[in-house]
Amino acid sequence: MTRVIAVANQKGGAGKSTVTVNLAVALGQAGKRVLVVDADPQFDSTAMLGCAPEDAAHTIADVFLGEAEAAAALRTAVAPAVDLLAGDARMADVELTLVSQVRREEFLAEALREVLPAYDYLLIDCPPNLGLLTVNAFVAADEVLIPISMIDRNAYKGAATLLSTLETLRSRRVSVETLGLLRNNVDARRNTFQTLDDALSALGAPVLSAQIPMRSGFHDATTEGIPLMLRRPDTREAEAFRELATEIDGGSVPLVVPDSADGAITATRRATPAEVA
Ligand SMILES: Nc1ncnc2c1ncn2[C@@H]1O[C@H](COP(=O)(O)OP(=O)(O)OP(=O)(O)O)[C@@H](O)[C@H]1O
Ligand SMILES: [Mg+2]
Repeated sequence: MTRVIAVANQKGGAGKSTVTVNLAVALGQAGKRVLVVDADPQFDSTAMLGCAPEDAAHTIADVFLGEAEAAAALRTAVAPAVDLLAGDARMADVELTLVSQVRREEFLAEALREVLPAYDYLLIDCPPNLGLLTVNAFVAADEVLIPISMIDRNAYKGAATLLSTLETLRSRRVSVETLGLLRNNVDARRNTFQTLDDALSALGAPVLSAQIPMRSGFHDATTEGIPLMLRRPDTREAEAFRELATEIDGGSVPLVVPDSADGAITATRRATPAEVA
């Protein structure tokens, strides 16, 4: 069964696009077949994968406009085992035209249905709002992954709003789970970290064990159009994405060895059913 994961947070700069592309590469390296769907008119994840909307005949906009089937619009092997449905600035206009259409929230789910069987994972990069494109992603998705920038002291407020939006959708019979809050931009030495971490724990949503450290290499990889996972695979931050992929794919939980010198995560094991529950 394909798992469709929307990567969402209406706060700008939380790390949605960075997480989408690096998690995609990590899952690809773990032997999974992955499709990145760039639903953001800013098309950052497309650029981070070294692509541009105009490099090929079609983008996600053509799919929404009924001018191409999703299968015909895919760009294959933009990274090992990773395909891309490229983003497009025209999606801003597409979103406006969707408003007046019947079943306007189901458009993306319908369009992606035919390509699902070819993949283990679809990762949908969402725009920084809770508008119709994001709602389309939630309807298409089974799960939502919520990156949180740990240097933003108010990030828990945005997360609370997002969680309540998901609750509203579930009350309208949209089946979408919260995969978890993902702590990004982690610098545990900052005094904002612990306060925010406590506030996130109190939201009642799962907080993933994997944490993505704050590292300038993510930005460099963006300007180069090569995800950090490919550009600097030997770094701690690349390892963090491998841990995230393992946690998501295998249900394994990090085993923190308490007496290790720096408190670092030193091993992983398969989670027991009780832990997963
Ligand atoms: N862990 C990190 N360490 C350092 N920089 C990071 C990290 N994660 C993201 N960034 C940087 O922060 C900026 C915003 O990240 P990104 O574009 O992934 O966020 P976003 O949530 O997709 O933003 P938007 O809301 O605009 O779509 C980028 O310059 C990116 O390189
Ligand atoms: Mg983005």
